[in-house]
Amino acid sequence: MRNILNLSKVKKTKGNKNFLIAETITPYVSLDFINKVYEGDCLDVCKKFPEDSIDLIVTSPPYADAREWHYGGIHPNKFADWLLERTKEFYRILKPTGTFILNIKEKVINGERHTYVIETILGMRKQGWLWTEEFIWHKKNCYPGKWPNRFRDAWERCLQFNKNKKFKMFQEEVMVPMGGWAEKRLKSLGKNDVIRFESRTNSKYGKNISNWLGREMAYPTNVLHLSTECSNKNHSAVFPVALPEWFIKLFTGKGDLVLDPFAGSGTTGVAALLLDRNYILIENNPEFCKYIIERIQNEGRNKKPDQERIFRNSKISAQCAKEAKHQQS
Ligand SMILES: C[S@@+](CC[C@H](N)C(=O)[O-])C[C@H]1O[C@@H](n2cnc3c(N)ncnc32)[C@H](O)[C@@H]1O
Repeated sequence: MRNILNLSKVKKTKGNKNFLIAETITPYVSLDFINKVYEGDCLDVCKKFPEDSIDLIVTSPPYADAREWHYGGIHPNKFADWLLERTKEFYRILKPTGTFILNIKEKVINGERHTYVIETILGMRKQGWLWTEEFIWHKKNCYPGKWPNRFRDAWERCLQFNKNKKFKMFQEEVMVPMGGWAEKRLKSLGKNDVIRFESRTNSKYGKNISNWLGREMAYPTNVLHLSTECSNKNHSAVFPVALPEWFIKLFTGKGDLVLDPFAGSGTTGVAALLLDRNYILIENNPEFCKYIIERIQNEGRNKKPDQERIFRNSKISAQCAKEAKHQQS
């Protein structure tokens, strides 16, 4: 770890210099390593963090070597092994109830899609990850173009991985209005709509549509229709704040800890701060780190990071004490 760019001051208590003891029956200890931007390779930085400490990881690693000119890159043939070294560390530091969202897209090489995403998924499963779901980010504003053997790329994968089948999820937080479909479809219910009707194709996916009568909100699909970010001139691969926001709402509660190990321009940090979550951002490019600090201060709408977040895990407390001692010396 080369450098820590601290955005917040540690609150001190009288007897216990760097810790904040909460007013609860169990003594909780605050973490010194949160709400910071770390400059360095996320592999090295994550090794310093205690196990089972992160609630959500949302990230978008380099697109293999597609943007080498801008922030370096890894050759597609080596990409899966490179990323797997890091996902092993992410596994260690994610809480058992946590989620990892990996925004990724395979590059086209010599006229065909490379297989590094598939290889990464298979490798992660060997590491113990469950490949729970795949969301599609549909880029609404993708610009027109012509390619000899394919159409323009208008979507990216957001792969969801978990350590366990049961994980934290707040589906109500991302509900969407029923919209025009409800008005039209629910006004003309047929006899098959009021029972759990087996589909005509015998697919076994029957549904009782009348269950949704009178409701204003529905659960969303696994396709996110979001425009790409064009106004951020400091980074070429920024995702819209709405993307990490959506996953943060779905997989965390207030005060939880969100990590972006390939932070780029810090979009995940901005989203976390706006939603009253804590964050850790790691980025290996010093210029981007400086930009993240500025951005967090501007777009975080001067919201102070919640440094008083507390954790019950005694292993974390021990690690925290070690870190604090190290920082004092
Ligand atoms: C696709 S961009 C992330 C963009 C980000 N989602 C945003 O909204 O700005 C990937 C970033 O990872 C950084 N990076 C590459 N290798 C890294 C590493 N080993 N550790 C930390 N950051 C790294 C690159 O400098 C780049 O800024």
